[in-house]
Amino acid sequence: MLELVRRDGLARICRLHTRQGELETPCLLPVINPRLVTISPRELYDVFGFRALITNSYIIRNDQRLREEALEGGVHAMLDYPGIIMTDSGTFQSHMYGDVDLINRDIVEFQRDIGSDIGTVLDIFAEPDWSKERTAGSLEVTLERTMEAAGLKGEMLLAGVVQGSIYPDLREMCARRLSEMEVDVNPIGGVVPLMENYRFAELVDVIVAAKKGLRPDRPVHLFGAGHPMLFALAALLGCDMFDSASYAKFARDDRFMFLEGTFRLQDMKALECQCPACFGHGLEEIRGMPPAQRTALIAKHNLWISKTELDRVRRAILEGDLWELVERRCRSHPALLDALRALERHQGFLEGFEPLSREHALFYTGPETLNRPVFLRYQKRLAERYAHPATEVGVTFEEAEKPYSRTLRPLIDSILAVSDAHFHVISPFGPVPIELDEIYPISQSLFPAQQDSQTVERTKELMEALAHTHRYKMALIWDGDGTLEFLRTFAPGKGTFDIDMARVRAVADLQFGRGAAAALLDGEVSLVKSKNVDRVRNVLVDGEHVLSMRAEDGFFTVRPAGARRLLRGLPSPRLRVMVQDDAVEFNRQGKNVFCPFVIDADPDIHPQEEVLVVDKDDALVAIGRAQMTRGEMLSFRKGVAVKVREGV
Ligand code: GUN
Ligand code: ZN
Repeated sequence: MLELVRRDGLARICRLHTRQGELETPCLLPVINPRLVTISPRELYDVFGFRALITNSYIIRNDQRLREEALEGGVHAMLDYPGIIMTDSGTFQSHMYGDVDLINRDIVEFQRDIGSDIGTVLDIFAEPDWSKERTAGSLEVTLERTMEAAGLKGEMLLAGVVQGSIYPDLREMCARRLSEMEVDVNPIGGVVPLMENYRFAELVDVIVAAKKGLRPDRPVHLFGAGHPMLFALAALLGCDMFDSASYAKFARDDRFMFLEGTFRLQDMKALECQCPACFGHGLEEIRGMPPAQRTALIAKHNLWISKTELDRVRRAILEGDLWELVERRCRSHPALLDALRALERHQGFLEGFEPLSREHALFYTGPETLNRPVFLRYQKRLAERYAHPATEVGVTFEEAEKPYSRTLRPLIDSILAVSDAHFHVISPFGPVPIELDEIYPISQSLFPAQQDSQTVERTKELMEALAHTHRYKMALIWDGDGTLEFLRTFAPGKGTFDIDMARVRAVADLQFGRGAAAALLDGEVSLVKSKNVDRVRNVLVDGEHVLSMRAEDGFFTVRPAGARRLLRGLPSPRLRVMVQDDAVEFNRQGKNVFCPFVIDADPDIHPQEEVLVVDKDDALVAIGRAQMTRGEMLSFRKGVAVKVREGV
């Protein structure tokens, strides 16, 4: 059973419960060849801290001594490994070496009988150059075998492999059908040739297609992904587990893995690595070592680099800067840059998992940053949810220092003294109505002062869209005092724009949906502002506290009076998470909503959004922040769906 602990978009930190203990993901399972041990399983566990490994049941079964030992004392005792052991089925070997003496039933039963914690189906490895017909045919066999294995697995967790070659529709179909079967882990298979040939853009398409069809409550393993330069990108797309034979294979060829790529010992001019394996050793010294010692050193180096990168990815998920990490990593190889650019095709899918805001500010790392789902989110919500105040005049400013409303305040005041205007600022996110300048990521983002041509071009495109959709009688771009004189002459009037009230309305609609501001603010509105920074803090309507504005991301926290207004004003299921009767009392006391108690939820909920917990009769139970999408809430059987702030 899988439990979601923390997440950023599709990337996640999870706990997989196995009978051999819990496995925290994202994680790397080093491959152990029981006939050719480079680093002992015991050392992997004790020294490196790898809590899981993967070994090949086919190799064990084909070796009489190993087979008997594994069947008698179990695979854990045989390998002297106290952690979680996953076994592969021999698919890859039979594919590479054309072995035919393998039968699904036999190898699945064998894995179960030697006490494997996670066993694997004998799937058919579909190559990237296979025709669609051949791939589709082999998929049916893989799915049939998976069905058979599910009936044989016993206590063992079963890995059902997503195949489908480079055909997204076949990948997604395979994933959907696996989601209906009794399997526990979903590896994405058949991708080794893509990785070996640096076809990373296609790998991105394959992973996304699989993710679309897979249930969220199962860990996704990227089969054969052992190079640390891929970890950040694969984790961003929702891969939870990796396995690596490369650390040992490369070491036997005297090849060092780094985040920038793989380098031959013979070609290296210097070694600056400070990992525990390299520390204190010079290049010449390593070259002169006996082969076995040299191989062990390089294998350990490769594992330390891999482990460190996984720890870095984990930290990025916790701190909210995984996108920045991925964009930086993808600059280490042109093929990875292609993969990064391929993410643009999946912006819409990724947006469905994009959080409302992050703790970490958005850092621009290059033109690909503009294709992050957060840009689409802002543009979509602006188009669908925002309505500008009904003034005659619209004035647009060139980008200014953030927050815009503070920097531009003197100009805005001078314009409002002569004309009834409203204001936008030009930004790489598109036009920013001045009253939205403090929401994530508008204020919480950093771009270089010197913009590149792609950013300039994109900004221009987005601003043109505003020119076609606005409803001002007169729209102009601020051009200094001349603009002021122009307005005084041709659009004289008195400013009616109240930025604080406009901010409350605009943020409410953008955050909760069109109509939310009207529902929330129906009555006599008064604002409580913080004295020293002149910021809206609390919104009261008819004397009741309905909303609080967060300083960190500029969005609202809902108070019970506000929640009741939203429930009345927005039709079900908007913003709702409906819980079972037996959870109602628990949540009323302010305790979190756990997944198994969720009956249904708004399909438009995103992580970190403010949600209303209700009972079956749509009565308010609690208010909190969603940790998941609707699909995830309904799929997971463990973990927190809504972090409750206040029971009602
Ligand atoms: N190891 C690497 N790729 C694969 C695959 O597609 N299936 C299995 N079972 N093992 C693999
Ligand atoms: Zn090293």
